[in-house]
Amino acid sequence: MKSKIAAAIVKKPYKFLDQQINWYPGHMRKATNQIEEQIGRTNLFMEIVDARAPISTHNASLETIIPGRVKHLIVMNKADLAHRETTQKFLDHYKQKGLLALSLNAKGDAGGQHLLKQLRKAAAPHFKSLGSWLMVGGIPNVGKSTIVNALRKSSRAVAGKTKSAKVGPTAGVTRGLSGFKISVNPLLYLIDTPGVMPTKVESNEVGYKLLLCGCVKEGMVDNFYLCDYLLYCFNERKMKEYTKLYDVNTTDNLYNVVEAIQKKYKTKSVGDACDLMFKNFREGKLGKITFDEAPTE
Ligand code: G4P
Repeated sequence: MKSKIAAAIVKKPYKFLDQQINWYPGHMRKATNQIEEQIGRTNLFMEIVDARAPISTHNASLETIIPGRVKHLIVMNKADLAHRETTQKFLDHYKQKGLLALSLNAKGDAGGQHLLKQLRKAAAPHFKSLGSWLMVGGIPNVGKSTIVNALRKSSRAVAGKTKSAKVGPTAGVTRGLSGFKISVNPLLYLIDTPGVMPTKVESNEVGYKLLLCGCVKEGMVDNFYLCDYLLYCFNERKMKEYTKLYDVNTTDNLYNVVEAIQKKYKTKSVGDACDLMFKNFREGKLGKITFDEAPTE
């Protein structure tokens, strides 16, 4: 019975604010050019996406600059915050399509080692002495730096006291992008790149998901509206964590949740309550969620 009530309170379709959510500052154009310059020497492109929105955080425009001979590995990062079964459905889908993909919690203890193991398999060099060049990329905030740091740490742990060697920037070649050794046997180098957004965000729904995942500049949409969408998503998925955390009945009215937050945490305004709800979501306290629907075929 309970699930029927939850299903009934979802007002479909959700009405998004009629507001453009685009973010493509000049430095992203520059970074795209740098990737284009470097991709020729790369054997594998590791695209980091947020496992909570693997479609919305995928930058399709990067695909157009990656030559077909370069292997493409999709890393569904922040898997610790995403709905586990949906992550698996995405992985199955990628596998079915012949794409390389894995899920990762880069902040977890074994994140770097797990990834390094997979990279050794996926990017084994043709010529041992030359090694393979890997490039890491993706939109902002998906965890690229965390992954690069985890790989640095793991490569050091494997190589004992040897520090991972910095091999760039090389004049005329790397132009601002640098690479470093992440594995000795096989020999693997990693090139780090800055976050790049697609030139145009496909829809406001995608924009909301990007805002929730922290991938676009904060403040473009007020947290009140983002929390309202969050509430809709929780109810649509019959997720009850918010009812437990805030001592409130299942509701489609954000004001009921705000009232409960104000009562429990003594927040001073609607805005403060929404900021807290947003923070709790980011911390994973409101449950593991995937915003994008897993492909069915
Ligand atoms: P970026 O380079 O792609 O822009 O992303 P970055 O590594 O800076 O990571 C963005 C945020 O995501 C960081 O949180 C980072 O800790 C967090 N993060 C990265 N990977 C994972 C993961 O697998 N799981 C979880 N739960 N979080 C992850 P932050 O709040 O900006 O900083 P801090 O909390 O690390 O101080």
